[in-house]
Amino acid sequence: MYSVSSPLLLFFAGCLMVAKLQSTGEAAASTMNYKVNETAVIKRVKLEASKGRSALQYRIQLIDEPLFKEALAFMNEHFVLNNNLMKSLAPGVAPTEPIEDDDEEPGPWEMALSEGISLAAILEDDQGTTGSMIACYMLGIERKGEVFLLPEGQDIPEFFRYIGKTLEDVEAKADVYTIFNCTSYVAGYGLATAPKYQRRGIGEEMLRARAQVCRITDTPVSAAVFTGEASQKLAKKCGYQTLAELDLTTYRIDGKLIYPNPEWPVIKWMAIRYF
Ligand SMILES: *[C@@H]1O[C@H](CO)[C@@H](O)[C@H](O)[C@H]1NC(C)=O
Ligand SMILES: *[C@@H]1O[C@H](CO)[C@@H](O)[C@H](O)[C@H]1NC(C)=O
Repeated sequence: MYSVSSPLLLFFAGCLMVAKLQSTGEAAASTMNYKVNETAVIKRVKLEASKGRSALQYRIQLIDEPLFKEALAFMNEHFVLNNNLMKSLAPGVAPTEPIEDDDEEPGPWEMALSEGISLAAILEDDQGTTGSMIACYMLGIERKGEVFLLPEGQDIPEFFRYIGKTLEDVEAKADVYTIFNCTSYVAGYGLATAPKYQRRGIGEEMLRARAQVCRITDTPVSAAVFTGEASQKLAKKCGYQTLAELDLTTYRIDGKLIYPNPEWPVIKWMAIRYF
């Protein structure tokens, strides 16, 4: 067994399994046929057309079971290879192709999704017709002392271990449980917006929606490692404080520079108490 303290590792594992699912031709469920689950809706947003940009209408909701596949496919397309850590891995460490996984069991990431607190932004119109998913935010609850185990025999690629270790190392610099006197918190494992819908405030709405997730789960604290410049700025704007930083340009594992030329040099472990 390989134990990890951050389920983000599981997240990458899950996403890469989806790559396999897709390559075997199993289609992701379409949100088009999705019947809106009003209990899961957190917020509706309607932007009028302005400054050459078209009107935009969407809802933010908890990802319920009918949306699992869509969410995994979305993250696979827009997040997995697109975040600062993955993009900055040294040549020779970065994966060259999705890992194969022959297991028919649901992946660990699907198990994490089943916590039911991840968020999606989904297009809709005044008639309530549902369009495509335009943003996704993978969330889970981390509890003090909890350890995650990857299944025995599972092949753990080197880059998983490196990214996992990086996250563990920055999180270990500041103990969120002590700082906030809490035993659990809502953790963020990755936020992505479809390129066509970026710079319209959707990421900010999604990040602010974490406050609702905290209330629903009665978990006052929310924390995550924000790896990119834009997400760190956004988190600061939304009231998150920086607990610890890690400079990727000098960071080594086993004496080796893992991110020798990062897209953005610093990752930040940030948190907020909402109530
Ligand atoms: C609707 O959403 C609620 C809240 O997320 C969830 O508990 C429930 O299982 C969902 N219903 C269906 C049919 O997925
Ligand atoms: C920490 O939290 C516990 C449980 O909620 C509470 O009893 C205790 O008074 C808190 N300690 C401080 C220093 O706030």
